[in-house]
Amino acid sequence: MLDAFTGINRTDRCGVISKELLGRTVTLMGWVHRRRDLGGLIFIDLRDVSGTVQIVIPPEESDAFAKAEKVRNEYVIAVTGEVSERNPKNINPDMPTGRYEVVARYLYLLNDTLPLPIQTNEAALAEEDLRLTYRYLDLRRSYLQEIIIKRHHIITAIREYLNDQSFLEIETPILMKSTPEGARDYLVPSRIYPGKFFALPQSPQMFKQLLMISGFDRYYQIARCFRDEDLRADRQPEFTQLDLEMSFVTQEQIFALMEGLFHHVFKKVSGIDLPIPFPCLTYQEAMDRFGSDKPDLRFALELNDITDLLTDSEFQVFRNALDNSGVIKCLCVPQGVLLSRKHQDELEKLAKHNGGKGVAYAKVAESGLETGISKYIPDNVAQGIIQRCQAKAGDLIIFAADSWLMTCKVLSALRNHLALMLGLIPAESFSFVWVYDFPFFAYDDVAQRWEPAHHMFTMPNVDHIPWLDDPQRIGDIHGQLYDLVCNGMELSSGSIRCHRYDVQRKIFEVLGFEEDDLRQRFGFFLDALKYGTPPHGGIAPGIDRIVMIMTKAESIRDVIAFPKTLKATDLMTKAPGEVSPEQWKELHLTLTE
Ligand code: AMO
Repeated sequence: MLDAFTGINRTDRCGVISKELLGRTVTLMGWVHRRRDLGGLIFIDLRDVSGTVQIVIPPEESDAFAKAEKVRNEYVIAVTGEVSERNPKNINPDMPTGRYEVVARYLYLLNDTLPLPIQTNEAALAEEDLRLTYRYLDLRRSYLQEIIIKRHHIITAIREYLNDQSFLEIETPILMKSTPEGARDYLVPSRIYPGKFFALPQSPQMFKQLLMISGFDRYYQIARCFRDEDLRADRQPEFTQLDLEMSFVTQEQIFALMEGLFHHVFKKVSGIDLPIPFPCLTYQEAMDRFGSDKPDLRFALELNDITDLLTDSEFQVFRNALDNSGVIKCLCVPQGVLLSRKHQDELEKLAKHNGGKGVAYAKVAESGLETGISKYIPDNVAQGIIQRCQAKAGDLIIFAADSWLMTCKVLSALRNHLALMLGLIPAESFSFVWVYDFPFFAYDDVAQRWEPAHHMFTMPNVDHIPWLDDPQRIGDIHGQLYDLVCNGMELSSGSIRCHRYDVQRKIFEVLGFEEDDLRQRFGFFLDALKYGTPPHGGIAPGIDRIVMIMTKAESIRDVIAFPKTLKATDLMTKAPGEVSPEQWKELHLTLTE
C-alpha cells in the first residue's frame, strides 16, 4: 500500500549529506538504489540526482522497518531520520557521503515499480537499442546523469562568458526557408498553402547575418539545427550549436574571443587551465603535415613529401602518380619494424578503404632501407628519404602515391590508426588548433561545376576578389574561413562574411545559380545586403561535440538526453511515425510509391 504524498516536505538531497548536517533530522526522497537486509537491520542506498546516501532502518522503528522489508530496487521512497556518523568499520571511501548515514524514523512508500526492462548500473549494460527504447530508465545511470549535468554546466558557463562580453541571446525561427549547409533539409508541409513547405534550420546562418544588418552587433544562440545526412559517431540529425555572430570584427578577434570562451568553460566546469592562444595552421600546412584539415595534434607522426626525391622512379605506382601531377608522401613510424604482418595488412586495408591504391613499406636499417621495392630506390635516394624523415634504425616508412588530396587522405587515416595502434595518444590532453585560409570553391567533377568548399556567404581573401571574374583562377580563391579542431574532431566552423552585395552576387554566379532560383531562394538575403550591411563574421561550435570532448564520451548519443539512432529514428517514441488519413488530407499530401 502506497503512502499519500501529502504533508511530507523534502528538506535535503541525498548527495549533500555531510558533517554540517550531523545530528539534524532530514527528510530525503529518491529511488532505492540497493537494499540489504542484514536480519536485524535493513540498509538502503537512497539515490537522487545529487548522489546516494546510506539509510539505516533499525527494527525499533517498526512501521518504517515493515515498509523497508517490502521495498525493492527502484521503488520511490521518502525517509525522515537523523544524520549520524557511520561506524568507522563501515565507512565507504568511494562514496562522497560514505562517512555518514541517516537513521530512519519514518519511511514512506511513494511509488513502486514493475521489474525494470534494463539494468541501470554500468556492470550490466543492455544492448543499445533496448536502452534507447527505455531511454528514461537508461538516463538513471550515473554515467549518463553525470554527462547531462555537465552539459548543463557547460551551457551555463558559455552563457556567462558571452553575456559578460555584451552578446545578446536572440532566438531565430525554426519554421523557415531552407538554409544551405550542404545537407538535405527536414521539410514541414504547410496546411494553409498547398504544395508549400517550411524547412527546419540546418543552422541559423542567414538570420544571424540579418541580425548584424539590423545592428545588434553581437548575437548568440544555443541553437537547435536539423540536417538529414548520413549519421556517424559524432553526427546527429538534430543537434545543438552555439551559434554566434559579431559586427566590425576580424578573424583574429574571433579567434581570441573563442579562446577566452573555451578557457573559461574548461576552467569553470573541469578546473582545467587550457593553454591559449591555440596554435594556428593554414589549410595547406595542415594537409601537407598531417594529411587532414582536422589534424589530431596530440601526437607527432607527420607526413613527409618525398616527390622531389623520386622524380626518376620507375616503380609503377610512383610513376603513375608523378605522370598525373600527383605526389609521393610517407609516414615514418618510430620502431615500426615491430609491427606485425597482421598490422601491416590492416594498414593496407585501411588505405584501400579510404580510396587509395595501397601502400608500400620500407624498414630502416643501419645500412639503409630494406624494402620489396629496393630496386626502384637507389642508395642515394634511400639516404635522402631517411634524412627527410629523420628516420632511425628500427623505424618503418610507409609510402603512398596518388593525387595530392588522395595521398593526404590515405596517410591521414593511417596516421590516426597508427596512433591508436601504438598507444601514442596521451589520455588527459586537449589539443586545440585553428585551421584557416581554406580554398573557397571545390570542383565537382561529376556535376561539372564549382561548389562552395565550405560556406558561400564568406568573404574571399580580399586580394582574391578580382579572380571571381577569371574562370582560370576560381580554384585559387581562398576564403576567410576557419575551423577550430580539438583532438582531431571539428568542433567549430566559421568565417568572415561577405558583406558586399556585388561580391556575394559574383559568388552565386560562379556557383552557377539561375537568376530565378537565386531570387526564389536567397532574394530576401541579397536584398538585405544592399541596405548598409556592416562587415561581420561568426562561428558555430557544436555543443554536442564540446560535451563529447569534455566528458570523453565516445558516442554523440551519450551527450544528448533523447538522441536518435544511427538510422535517424527515435526508438522510444517510435518517430518518425504514421499520421492519420485526415492529416494527409489536411496537408494536401499523397504517397506516390
Ligand atoms: P557547420 O556546418 O560546419 O557550420 O557546423 C558547425 C559545427 O556544428 C557541429 N555539427 C554537428 N554536430 C552534430 N551533428 C551534426 N550533424 C553536425 N553538423 C555540424 C560541428 C560543426 O563544427 N553556419 C555555419 C557556422 C558559421 O559559419 O558560423 C555552420 O553551421 O561541431
